[in-house]
Amino acid sequence: MEKHIPEIYDREETTIEDVELILELLEKHHCKNVLEPFCGTGRILLPIAARGVKITGMDGAKVMLNRLQNKLKEESEAVKNNVSVIHSELMGYTWPSGFDAVILGGNFFFEFGSLEEQQKILTKAYQSVKPGGYIFISSDTIEGELPDYWCSVGEENPAFPSGICEDGVELKGYSKPVYVNKTNKIWKAHRRLEIFKNDKLTEEYHWEIQKYPIGYSEILEMIHQLNLEILDSWGDIKLRKPFQTGDNKAAFWLRKKR
Ligand SMILES: C[S@@+](CC[C@H](N)C(=O)[O-])C[C@H]1O[C@@H](n2cnc3c(N)ncnc32)[C@H](O)[C@@H]1O
Repeated sequence: MEKHIPEIYDREETTIEDVELILELLEKHHCKNVLEPFCGTGRILLPIAARGVKITGMDGAKVMLNRLQNKLKEESEAVKNNVSVIHSELMGYTWPSGFDAVILGGNFFFEFGSLEEQQKILTKAYQSVKPGGYIFISSDTIEGELPDYWCSVGEENPAFPSGICEDGVELKGYSKPVYVNKTNKIWKAHRRLEIFKNDKLTEEYHWEIQKYPIGYSEILEMIHQLNLEILDSWGDIKLRKPFQTGDNKAAFWLRKKR
């Protein structure tokens, strides 16, 4: 299962609109040295390195970084030389600093179960970027209370990671909300993963997760608290449209004041 989850991640996460936007922004603002926390298998990191930008990727999951390193083997020496990788849990880790830009993409806020943790991550990004440097944020957002489709406590549904891998191993992931506070947006779920080899269930894993689906106004509040300047923002990255009430995604290009 080590290699299977990253394989399924790459198969499912094929968005390129955010990557295209990030590449444009880095070029326009002459960013040459970039940090990407939560880089995973390199969906965003590798295209940046291929543009001649030095990038440091950080992630807590060795399996994701192994897949990134395997992809990197296929790249030219020039691209390889642009990439540094740090394997660490990132909440307690002191992030390196002095970067032209920090990329917080791939819905990173949803990796964390509270507003406090999300704030801590944005503060760490702030500390890692040099004065006058930039932070890119993109995230799903839920304004106000959780909608009903988040609230089906006790109902188990198929979830990531699910699919048949290249070697025939099949993963079936499930998610079952076990506690939901609609108003405070606290959402806890029991996750389960079944692994089938030759159609036989060979392993089963269980774990708990908590999410805090952040709202647009909560992201804005964090940005203001850090006194970051909003240079641009979007609700729909694909159409490059500004955020409008009701949008469930938001992205920002921010500058740390000198
Ligand atoms: C959804 S993936 C996003 C990967 C990549 N940014 C992208 O957009 O394709 C989230 C990544 O964050 C990492 N991650 C989540 N919480 C973490 C933590 N506390 N410390 C380090 N890495 C973490 C996971 O291992 C995973 O690779």
